[in-house]
Amino acid sequence: MSIKNQFGKKGWTPDRIKDLTGKTFVITGTTSGTGYEAARILLSKGAKVVMLNRNPQKAEATIASLQDVIGNSIEVMNVQMDLGVQASVKKAASEVLKKVERIDALLCNGAIAQVPKQKITLDGWESQMGVNYFGHFTLQALLFPLIEKSKGRIVTVGSMGYDMGLKTIKFEDLNLDKDYTPNDAYSQSKLAQIMTIYELQNRMIKAGKSEVKAYACHPGSSRTNLINTSGSFMMKLIFGLMKLSPLTQPAENGAYPQLMCATEPDLDQTAFYGPTGRSNWVGPVGAHELKPHAKDKAVANRLWKLTEEEVGIKWL
Ligand SMILES: NC(=O)c1ccc[n+]([C@@H]2O[C@H](COP(=O)([O-])OP(=O)(O)OC[C@H]3O[C@@H](n4cnc5c(N)ncnc54)[C@H](OP(=O)(O)O)[C@@H]3O)[C@@H](O)[C@H]2O)c1
Repeated sequence: MSIKNQFGKKGWTPDRIKDLTGKTFVITGTTSGTGYEAARILLSKGAKVVMLNRNPQKAEATIASLQDVIGNSIEVMNVQMDLGVQASVKKAASEVLKKVERIDALLCNGAIAQVPKQKITLDGWESQMGVNYFGHFTLQALLFPLIEKSKGRIVTVGSMGYDMGLKTIKFEDLNLDKDYTPNDAYSQSKLAQIMTIYELQNRMIKAGKSEVKAYACHPGSSRTNLINTSGSFMMKLIFGLMKLSPLTQPAENGAYPQLMCATEPDLDQTAFYGPTGRSNWVGPVGAHELKPHAKDKAVANRLWKLTEEEVGIKWL
């Protein structure tokens, strides 16, 4: 099913972003890939950017690189945060709340993918669920009061992988103890992230908090470090070859969907945004089909309640 692109043939591009002076964006995982590109483009439009990264040395090198490319006057800082450790996420959230006066958008971008063998985080979750899903849930919940005060946005970077695994949440074996596969685990974490955005929209309406906007998007198939960081040797080989083909796009293009969701006025929150070309891996950015299992309200509601219990935070 094709949806007419509201931004025309070329789709959404960052030329549409106006001057962002006075606005503040918080982004997870900016040391490479789409997060780096998103930070670079926001800074080049005059925004203040707070980066949340696990590795302080890499974060320092990222800031140096951004200053090199854009100039020393950019307003950028790093707050150390490991998405895979709840105590670290909580500490980082409280630091962010002390350091900034507003959050115009929180971009939940950082992730690991295709971890070859099941790994369990300190908090007891399968690593992709722990980092990609539970880490971001806690961050969103703790930053929500300031995002609300700022009439800001929450942007989740999902993946077309949401439709390439179990296609639901395996409540009876969330850590996939019985049948772990790297793909099912990654897919479940990305599906959980996407489902939670639509569930958040429902809950905000019920709570009368509709001034916050929440969007789900994905970067298509972009040439980044994702598989190199956490994937198996075989996956690295396969993705290395894919990167040479027209089935992938530069990391910069992969950042456009999250930048659009963070800055474009009058977007439809109920849509799913990403590249609209071949297999939704490349091409002009806009809204495109999302399979119904990602909007299954019963599953999303059950997941939300379970998540609040798991992370020990009552959100909405
Ligand atoms: N590339 C694609 O084709 C593709 C396709 C579908 C979806 N995505 C999604 O796009 C988003 C960006 O990924 P990317 O492709 O740009 O990959 P990337 O280049 O590997 O960037 C991922 C970022 O996340 C950070 N990160 C990883 N684990 C972390 C943790 N525990 N705590 C804090 N930060 C952590 C990484 O930091 P380190 O430097 O410390 O590792 C890095 O900055 C992800 O949500 C991914 O699922 C990508």
